[in-house]
Amino acid sequence: MSPEEPQGSVPPPTPPAPSVAPAPKGPPKSVQQIQVDQTKVWNLWFTRREFLTLAAWGAFFAGLGGSLAALLRFFIPQITYDPPSSFKVGKPSDYMAGEVSERWKKKHRIWVIRDTPAEGGGLFAIYARCTHLGCTPNWLEGQRKFKCPCHGSGFRRTGLNFEGPAPRPLERCKIALAEDGQITVDINTRFKNPKDWKKPEAYLKV
Ligand code: FES
Repeated sequence: MSPEEPQGSVPPPTPPAPSVAPAPKGPPKSVQQIQVDQTKVWNLWFTRREFLTLAAWGAFFAGLGGSLAALLRFFIPQITYDPPSSFKVGKPSDYMAGEVSERWKKKHRIWVIRDTPAEGGGLFAIYARCTHLGCTPNWLEGQRKFKCPCHGSGFRRTGLNFEGPAPRPLERCKIALAEDGQITVDINTRFKNPKDWKKPEAYLKV
């Protein structure tokens, strides 16, 4: 005890010595074991080899599924919902003499026209497609003519072209009377030549 220290005082505690990490236990790893450790992938579930094997099988089954789908599409018929080419447009009495009816233009792209008694009194259907480049003409009641808005072609009520670039008349559709008394029109059967317009299939006498 030094002469400056008061008698009976306790010396300060000495700090604990730093701990030393214990030396690894067990035998050192072999080179093979180290390689296995290095092939562990980033998640703990698969090794690299397992992952590549699974990926290969996945690609195989995906390709197989695609081939089966293509095969099924080949054997199962594809259904289309095109509107029917033949349809009914009411009874002859629904049309007045001299009338150009636009009732079916939007749905079926036709006009149904009834002649006056002096013209024969029959009915015919004109396909509403310009014979120039295929636009849909309009019926101008005041001028009693069809007029194409695209390049100005004009057609008589009969369908004959008389002005503009259209090279030929509008086409007429097949028309008939069904057993139930209704008019049927088939837009897939059309008559281009005016010589055919008085055929029974092109002109319905009533
Ligand atoms: S498409 Fe009708 S005049 Fe050109």
